[in-house]
Amino acid sequence: MIIKQAELETVCGITSKLPENAFPEVAFAGKSNVGKSSLINGLLNRKSLARTSSQPGKTQTINFYKVNGDLYLVDLPGYGYAKVSNEIKAKWGRMIENYLHGSKQLKAVFLLVDIRHEPSANDKDMYQWIVAQGYEPVIIATKLDKIKRSQVQKQIKILKEGLKLLPGTQLIPFSAETKQGRDEIWDVICSFVEE
Ligand code: GTP
Ligand code: MG
Repeated sequence: MIIKQAELETVCGITSKLPENAFPEVAFAGKSNVGKSSLINGLLNRKSLARTSSQPGKTQTINFYKVNGDLYLVDLPGYGYAKVSNEIKAKWGRMIENYLHGSKQLKAVFLLVDIRHEPSANDKDMYQWIVAQGYEPVIIATKLDKIKRSQVQKQIKILKEGLKLLPGTQLIPFSAETKQGRDEIWDVICSFVEE
């Protein structure tokens, strides 16, 4: 994918009305710190268009990045961030659910999980919930550069079994450091958008 243009177009907080975009959207969900914003930067060939942080809880809004004038990459706040109150957690949860449930332009949902760890209860719930909304989530196993190549297949198996992925579900390992997996993710995005 050649990126001619990429810009942050809309930022939605808890009380904002979600935009009614005229172009397809693909969204990136996953727990805090898993690498959603880093993935978006990697896809867009930009170092810091999407703000990232080593501290979880960086993205606290739904951010719509417009690409080449006719597609949106949607950065969602992470779930499972321990340091916020239950009330705020519930509000974010509703905001994410509201978006995933209500967007008319959402073509694909990517669920990011850390390749190093077993999926959490939140990851499992999120996967089931996305499926229940009628999407076929594509799993992205992030931080591929943090494990040895010899560990990759074992970790993929742990993720597949832990999430109880439906047969045929795509799982793509990705590294924001090396950009491994980038082209494959773009191919998947294009296949969903062109349908
Ligand atoms: P929230 O906005 O808090 O939900 O987090 P996020 O999912 O957007 O994560 P973010 O992209 O901010 O990344 C969190 C941290 O992980 C940052 O320090 C990143 O540099 C690091 N990180 C993300 N992806 C990778 C990766 O593929 N490899 C390595 N080594 N570090 C990564
Ligand atoms: Mg983020």
